[in-house]
Amino acid sequence: MPNPPETATSIQYHDGPGGLPFATIENAQATAEVSLHGGHVTAFQPKSASQPVLWLSGQAVFDPNKAIRGGIPVCWPWFGDHPTDAGLPAHGFARTSPWKVTNESSNADGSTTLALQLSATTPVPDVWPHRATLLLEITVGEALSIRLTTTNTGDAPFPLTQALHTYFTVSDISNVTIAGLEGARYLDKLKGNAAKPQDGVITIDQEVDRVYTETTADCLIHDPGFDRTIRIAKSGSRSTVVWNPWIEKAKRMGDFPDDGYQTMVCVETTNVGEDDTVTVEPGASHTLAAVISIEAV
Ligand code: BG6
Repeated sequence: MPNPPETATSIQYHDGPGGLPFATIENAQATAEVSLHGGHVTAFQPKSASQPVLWLSGQAVFDPNKAIRGGIPVCWPWFGDHPTDAGLPAHGFARTSPWKVTNESSNADGSTTLALQLSATTPVPDVWPHRATLLLEITVGEALSIRLTTTNTGDAPFPLTQALHTYFTVSDISNVTIAGLEGARYLDKLKGNAAKPQDGVITIDQEVDRVYTETTADCLIHDPGFDRTIRIAKSGSRSTVVWNPWIEKAKRMGDFPDDGYQTMVCVETTNVGEDDTVTVEPGASHTLAAVISIEAV
């Protein structure tokens, strides 16, 4: 019998949980799920990997007005609390806005790219008095590549803080180390943003909420339980956030299992803090990008 044709690259659109529009991307190298609402990658797994790369909460709420807990929320155009108006949503409005598909492509290396653009919600004069387009390019292959490009289409510069707020699946947080930030300075959000040096690799045995500053380094999540290392390489970013809510905060979050902190860690590719707030000039663009890959150990 002749060999079946090589598996065609495919993107399938369908209603996902909560009726939200989703895209499933599957090619010979990997599978991924993307919620078009929020421009939110909720799953990624190379075919060669035995475990998902991204962590998605079993209690995630799929509601247009609420960010999905897990995957890669896009925090934009501000990270964390709004600098001046506490009434505005934390981490901005991109993750709860509808995006539209602008392009899809099958690439020569066998990967697949889906491009999304933030639709009707920009400009949002009541919330954000600027004009911009936001493009999210998601490339699914052996690695997952995410590029978030902000273009200022207005006539005044604006400040931008943002994150690819990536939740990773780990076998057991108590056996995981995160390398790449040794010697970097971090601001401890749990201690009033006190600045501290990172002594050695990161281990997590309590709540952690830190902004690492002045770093362009790759981060490596070493996970002996899954026999793998996750590498996060980045560009357009000079800060990295590391977050694990640990026991009490996990209990306080309704969309987060009480024991979920044991199997996840966020290593976020960011533009955050005074040192890494980007000014986007009229007509100019800024791209924040991450490439996430698995290395067997
Ligand atoms: C992290 C912040 O990036 O996101 C934390 O540093 C925050 O302070 C966490 O708790 C989750 O935020 P949210 O808005 O998705 O619950």
